[in-house]
Amino acid sequence: MARQHVTTTINGEETEFLCEPHETLLTVLRDELQLTGTKEGCGTGDCGACSVLLDGRLICSCLALGVEAEGASITTVEGLASEDGLHPLQQHFLEDAALQCGICTPGFLVAAKALLDSNPDPTETEVRFALAGNLCRCTGYDKIIRAVLDTAADRRAPA
Ligand code: FES
Ligand code: FES
Repeated sequence: MARQHVTTTINGEETEFLCEPHETLLTVLRDELQLTGTKEGCGTGDCGACSVLLDGRLICSCLALGVEAEGASITTVEGLASEDGLHPLQQHFLEDAALQCGICTPGFLVAAKALLDSNPDPTETEVRFALAGNLCRCTGYDKIIRAVLDTAADRRAPA
């Protein structure tokens, strides 16, 4: 089948790629665009390792097609840091030791960004609920939740 031409915006940069109609967005990101920060855990929408933002909405890129990126704006974990340095969530994940093997970390970071973008002052329950779709086999979650709450607290603190 003919490959499809897709024009999209990824991490603020206009991007074009060719993909098969059945190819997932996850495959396109990793194999076509070499954005390998987005991880494949389950491939079935259960682990959250492949989380990205599509037009600001948190999705599992293993459940989206590459062609669905047409005209959209996508944020992957590579888009979190800026020229000024790590995103505050990344900094707090480091400071709070909220990772071990790191496979789940990009998904957690993207999901946590989606949460804080819509709710800058979440309760612990809200953080746990928002990250319930992300699985970690290593850390036990508490440090991850703490890192997100610490990021939110920092942002509220007067400069
Ligand atoms: S790889 Fe997409 S949810 Fe697990
Ligand atoms: S740090 Fe290993 S799966 Fe989360």
